[in-house]
Amino acid sequence: MTPEGGVAAGVHMRERPVRKGSYLGRTAIVTVRPPVDGGTVLITGASSGIGREFAAQLAARTGTLVIAARRAGLLEALRAELIAAHPRLRVVALPVDLSDERDVERAVTAMREQAGPVDVLINNAGVGDQALFDVADWTRTR
Ligand SMILES: NC(=O)c1ccc[n+]([C@@H]2O[C@H](COP(=O)([O-])OP(=O)(O)OC[C@H]3O[C@@H](n4cnc5c(N)ncnc54)[C@H](OP(=O)(O)O)[C@@H]3O)[C@@H](O)[C@H]2O)c1
Repeated sequence: MTPEGGVAAGVHMRERPVRKGSYLGRTAIVTVRPPVDGGTVLITGASSGIGREFAAQLAARTGTLVIAARRAGLLEALRAELIAAHPRLRVVALPVDLSDERDVERAVTAMREQAGPVDVLINNAGVGDQALFDVADWTRTR
């Protein structure tokens, strides 16, 4: 068990007395830690609404939170709030416009440098639209 109550990942081999006819005389015990516990979680659309709430809820469990959205000021305010409440948490604020492919490429590079590999993606950023999908505005729905 980890200090947070999660289960550490790993495979443990336990020796067992070999009985006649047994296959290998060993039992494999596999324990798996949910990747969110102590892992790196990327939340898109974290500057407001549901994404912001995801960040607040997961802050106690993750090792690194990457919070992405366009409004850098809101991300920095959230970052400060999360770190104040969870001093051991690492928070990377990642300002990015996800509808701009070049900006996404830039942000992915910055994220790799600052946070490393991501364990969990919460792909939350988006806008609501009310229309039939095939006639919806591509710039809003893509
Ligand atoms: N609330 C509901 O009842 C409901 C129902 C069904 C589905 N959803 C979906 O759930 C998600 C979150 O909804 P919400 O109510 O929390 O909406 P919200 O408060 O408007 O939040 C949307 C988030 O997405 C970010 N975002 C929007 N466009 C972006 C872009 N181009 N690049 C980067 N970030 C962008 C916004 O940040 P910036 O403006 O700072 O970029 C904001 O943080 C959306 O995908 C929405 O469609 C919500």
